Amino acid sequence: MNHFELQNGELACEGAPLTAIAKAVGTPVYVYSTATLVRHYQVFTGAFRAHPNLGEPLVAYAVKANSNLSVLKTLGDLGAGADTVSEGEIRRALAAGIPPERIVFSGVGKTAREIAFALKVGVAEINVESEPEMLMVAGVAAQLGMRATIAIRVNPNVSAGGHAKIATGKAVDKFGVSFAEAARLYANASNNAALNPVGVACHIGSQITDLAPMREAFTKMRGLVEQLRVEGLKVERLDLGGGLGVPYFHMPDPPGVKDYAAMIAEVLGDLKVQLAFEPGRLIAANAGVLLARVLHIHERPEGRRFAVLDAAMNDLVRPAMYDAYHDIRPVKPREGEPLLYDVVGPVCETGDTFTRERLLPPLEAGDLVAFMSAGAYGASMSSEYNTRPLVPEVLVKGGNFAVVRPRPSYDEMLAREPLAEWLGSH
Ligand code: LLP
Repeated sequence: MNHFELQNGELACEGAPLTAIAKAVGTPVYVYSTATLVRHYQVFTGAFRAHPNLGEPLVAYAVKANSNLSVLKTLGDLGAGADTVSEGEIRRALAAGIPPERIVFSGVGKTAREIAFALKVGVAEINVESEPEMLMVAGVAAQLGMRATIAIRVNPNVSAGGHAKIATGKAVDKFGVSFAEAARLYANASNNAALNPVGVACHIGSQITDLAPMREAFTKMRGLVEQLRVEGLKVERLDLGGGLGVPYFHMPDPPGVKDYAAMIAEVLGDLKVQLAFEPGRLIAANAGVLLARVLHIHERPEGRRFAVLDAAMNDLVRPAMYDAYHDIRPVKPREGEPLLYDVVGPVCETGDTFTRERLLPPLEAGDLVAFMSAGAYGASMSSEYNTRPLVPEVLVKGGNFAVVRPRPSYDEMLAREPLAEWLGSH
């Protein structure tokens, strides 16, 4: 469910018509719905409340999905924690008022500086992904005279995820350690004065549309927790990652959160651990659209019809990078037979193609279109490639909207690059 619907023949976000936002802010622009963000967070937490034996899990929103400060504050105010993968993301979470005891620090390559920062601000837990990283965390903690609370990220060797580039749970992927190694590292950590191992973690991929691989991975994680306990080690937390898929309109609905929670209750209900989740896409994807304008309709004699937009792969890279599908909707749909379009951006690469031969209502130059389900991994992956200003972001609440990341001016963009001193100045 989302809050982007036709009102009086044109697409609106909650009570704000997208044409009004485009007029005020220009295009391309991301538009997020507060009501959808809130609803997704509440549906997620509510699904677990139906299973009291699971306790109250920590829902650490994966900041990478959409790291805008207003989005983080909206979720943080509801009680969300944050799953972070860099010092920058930790700083964002803190700036949005998310308390450190709800912040998890994950990622395969944390630097000593980042680890020290995380320890000093007191994040809830550092998820370590390899033995050398664990030793690095211990070294940094010892230097600071601290004890680092850690979880070991396990790679359950289960394949899942919507695209090879976003599957993370196979042994050949760079993430986490094997079960055997996890047990050894956990035991070593509990004998290290600078480390306080509290649990184990996994995350097997993103845009997962089938519960079976998750069930398999979580069952294996249960086995690990039991094994560690038999060895006399204390395991209090189990972080099950994110990864649950969302509907991108062209495919059958993925399993809902209720089924996900029921499966977890079945597999882990009696394990007596504090559960943690790191959903990203599920919270943010369908809470945002990328709004763009059609610059030209260019018909080639060979029969292709191109809709050239003012948005490009630097604004939304998912189609170019993962062959991702985004529903494309005209903001004011025109009457008439749908036509086949190749929808492309202005960047000088053939990869800057959002879709090929998609049936869409007739489009004309000047029309606004919305890329649906673009709230996750859209703006957070955007760049200034081709020296296109970083795409702005707008947050809607009811009939109000606010620019929560303005479009930089060209002067601001150029001022970020001082010339080398021997070249003079500009
Ligand atoms: N936790 C960890 C450790 C992760 O690596 C990720 C995502 C998440 C949680 C959140 O997963 P989610 O619930 O959003 O599936 N850029 C790609 C997706 C990359 C996901 C990377 N890790 C895309 O646009 O599809």
